[in-house]
Amino acid sequence: MVVIDFWKDVEGYEKYTYSSRWGKKRIAEMEANYKEIEPFLSGNKRMIKGRILDIGCGGGLLSLWLESKGYSIVGIDNNKKMIKIALGEKKKLKFKSEFKNADAGTVKLDKMFDSFTMFGNTLANISLISFVKIMRNLNKNLRKKGNVLISYNDSLKSVLRDQYSISTSDNFLNINGNYSHLDNSIELIRVSFKGKGMVKFKMYVWSSQILQALMLSLGFKLVKSMEIKAEMVTNLDVYQKMRDGEHLS
Ligand SMILES: C[S@@+](CC[C@H](N)C(=O)[O-])C[C@H]1O[C@@H](n2cnc3c(N)ncnc32)[C@H](O)[C@@H]1O
Repeated sequence: MVVIDFWKDVEGYEKYTYSSRWGKKRIAEMEANYKEIEPFLSGNKRMIKGRILDIGCGGGLLSLWLESKGYSIVGIDNNKKMIKIALGEKKKLKFKSEFKNADAGTVKLDKMFDSFTMFGNTLANISLISFVKIMRNLNKNLRKKGNVLISYNDSLKSVLRDQYSISTSDNFLNINGNYSHLDNSIELIRVSFKGKGMVKFKMYVWSSQILQALMLSLGFKLVKSMEIKAEMVTNLDVYQKMRDGEHLS
């Protein structure tokens, strides 16, 4: 039996690395939005660049991009191989970011952060319940009025508009599989054009309303919502931690 590594054989690690062709394309897309998100990265409009926790940092592509902007970065990812790639890129390109192989739902961190980022559709790999666990676990490490920036694909919108039923990407044909109401996920089938066979994988369904409702229940208000044109993501939302007792008007 051929064992397929989802990130290597299906997604391709190069989508997640700073120095790849894909990486450069994704960085250019983020650059196009940087002016709009910059005020939220340090939080509280402080003059100094803040410390950012990059949740589900993958191969470190956007962590290193943020470091290049002057922020101090800790990236965490529960996939050992991704962290190995991130550390390799850091060494090769002489960056300083810290990368940890850890599950965001259980990791104990001893630093405080000005902002959290969860970029590149990491949400698609996280169920609604796991997301709540992650935010509850990490909340104590986000300072008062700290921001959470999330770029994701509003997959509910795509599913309802039938954009998932069948599609092609560089090397694959994607076929929409079953929806599971148990964990709000879709099973996708991806067939390789290049002889690596077929693989099934799970993608959790998210929408901007679902995210907003969960974040609100966790004590975060939406302060900016952008529809963006980028690989893998359609939306970039910024949330801010509310003060104790603060209510939305
Ligand atoms: C789609 S990739 C995005 C990577 C990166 N943020 C980027 O934009 O290139 C999602 C990453 O989230 C990681 N991930 C999923 N669940 C996680 C968890 N509970 N804790 C830490 N990382 C997680 C996966 O291992 C994967 O590397």
